Amino acid sequence: MSVRALWFERGRLFLLDQRRLPSRVVVQGYTQVEHVAEAIRSMVVRGAPSIGVAAAYGMALASRQAGWTSARAARLLGSTRPTANDLFVGIDAVRSAWDHGRDPLEAASEYRDIVVGECHRIGEAGAPLFRTRERVLTHCNAGALATVEWGTALAPLRVAHDRGSPIFVWVDETRPLLQGSRLTAWELEQEGIPHAVIADNAAGHFMRRGEVDAVIVGADRIARNGDFANKVGTYEKAVLARENGIPFYVAAPFSTFDPASADGTAIPVEERSEEELRRMGGSELMPRKSRARNPAFDVTPSRFVTSFITPTGLASPRGLGQVFRARVRATEARSAARGSARARTGRRSTRRSD
Ligand code: MRU
Repeated sequence: MSVRALWFERGRLFLLDQRRLPSRVVVQGYTQVEHVAEAIRSMVVRGAPSIGVAAAYGMALASRQAGWTSARAARLLGSTRPTANDLFVGIDAVRSAWDHGRDPLEAASEYRDIVVGECHRIGEAGAPLFRTRERVLTHCNAGALATVEWGTALAPLRVAHDRGSPIFVWVDETRPLLQGSRLTAWELEQEGIPHAVIADNAAGHFMRRGEVDAVIVGADRIARNGDFANKVGTYEKAVLARENGIPFYVAAPFSTFDPASADGTAIPVEERSEEELRRMGGSELMPRKSRARNPAFDVTPSRFVTSFITPTGLASPRGLGQVFRARVRATEARSAARGSARARTGRRSTRRSD
């Protein structure tokens, strides 16, 4: 796995600045929660699972800074990007460790390992779908950059490619910040996976000509009924896929599933600055007095989803109850394992002191 989006070493969180790719590979080290929050807000680090892991380490850094409480750090980090459910799961994982006297840094690293492990399992679960569906369209970047390692949408394609399936990826450029052409194409190029970038509005053209066998995307938040938020433009790809009889897959770790959202109307959609539409590389793209609207995400109704690809396998929108229950069981199993590890350590230290 050659792509490294973020890592923690010698007291610093290192983030690959995703705004500079593909022309420059710039890595910056962070020691303060305020700076990590700004890096998330300004999209140095982006993609729901990576945002969650960065926030988890941000909490751990705050716990070592003077004047920070877990509540204050959680408030700051939680104000950065409202749509990604993973952000809040990452924050809460470390907040609860901090509040219960466990090591916040250990909790952040444990959270990171969970996310990476789940993405790997998504890759294994989804790969068989692409043995015969070889020309796959994806929107935005749901690869290793967005998830620390593996990816969600890109993980099954990676695994299928590694096993010899002749995968070809149609990469939507993904206006306005070009996560598709800058980041997904960069990742695919690193791994030698054949692909072609297309303008966002070309997807329908290739679907109608029979040149797309499947669509796969990630998600920022999945409601209980299977409605989900993902990068703006996902909804229209889902509608086009349905119109053209093409299967549409959504890949996500447990942290993206939000039990508090009953359906898509409960999902908060981040609206970003119009400046992201107004300028590109220093050039003005619209008249100065024109206004713009810039929703970063849209919500796709669950009826357009063929299957969710999750760490526990494939699930239909109607079968999501099982995924939500598996998510709860996984959390309970981890806290039980921590409890018995603590009991073992306690017994050992009692014996030592006897
Ligand atoms: O605004 P971004 O770049 O953070 O949006 C990212 C996406 O929409 C991804 O598809 C989503 O976070 C899933 S990443 C595995």
